[in-house]
Amino acid sequence: MASVNPYSVLAECYDDVMAHVDYDEWAWFVQQLCDHHDHAPGNVLELGCGTGIFASLFTLLDGVTSYRAVDASPDMIAVALKKNARVDADFAVQSFAELKSDPPGSRGYDTVLLLYDGLNYLMESEAIDELLARVSTVLRPGGLFIFDQSTPANSLNNESFFEDSGFSGPIRFIRKSSYDPETAIHTTEFELAKNGVVYKEKHLQRCYSGPQIQVIIEPSPLKIEGGYSGFSLEPADTESERIHWVVRKP
Ligand SMILES: C[S@@+](CC[C@H](N)C(=O)[O-])C[C@H]1O[C@@H](n2cnc3c(N)ncnc32)[C@H](O)[C@@H]1O
Repeated sequence: MASVNPYSVLAECYDDVMAHVDYDEWAWFVQQLCDHHDHAPGNVLELGCGTGIFASLFTLLDGVTSYRAVDASPDMIAVALKKNARVDADFAVQSFAELKSDPPGSRGYDTVLLLYDGLNYLMESEAIDELLARVSTVLRPGGLFIFDQSTPANSLNNESFFEDSGFSGPIRFIRKSSYDPETAIHTTEFELAKNGVVYKEKHLQRCYSGPQIQVIIEPSPLKIEGGYSGFSLEPADTESERIHWVVRKP
């Protein structure tokens, strides 16, 4: 078995592996969040965009004037470029750590997005501090950063241990997932069989609680406007499995 980087071989079958995710609902919900905060999406930067499924839907919504979608994985971006030729978005490889302040004179993004667990890949709180600081440098004053996090409740309720498998074109995938409440680390291992070779990807995510993320955001340059439970406009609580944060650059 060959160990490979997360989101390398998986990129090719990612959309099939994530077929259970309702991205239409997600795009609609993010638009609701913008409306709720009296904000037009305008020019958007999506971080951790993966294969661009969300981008392909959100770019169609009212109020989006331009869209840049970036991800650290060259393989995910290669798939995004291949399948989204008709999507009005600019895809590029860029990690959170490579996010730089806009050149002097540029206006900055109206909206920065980071959706579906991208934050959970940051294993230390210092990396989240850094991300918030970097996002602040690329947002215009008054711009919004909307991001989600998966919580320990999500792993405990749904994914403390599960295994599934399936086919995607020439790839057979097996996904095994487990959660360690002591370390709050959620591990997902993929076995991806292609052309007689089995590739293995190990994905580690930290499951922060809502209060832990709140404490990290508070001293950052961004101001919390809401932390919402799941795909609702109800405030997040200890039962929330996913939280959408809306934070604004003053
Ligand atoms: C679960 S996928 C979600 C992808 C996409 N947002 C979606 O909804 O399908 C998480 C994504 O975060 C990206 N990612 C993880 N750590 C990153 C980092 N430090 N910088 C940029 N992207 C990162 C991964 O490459 C992967 O594409």
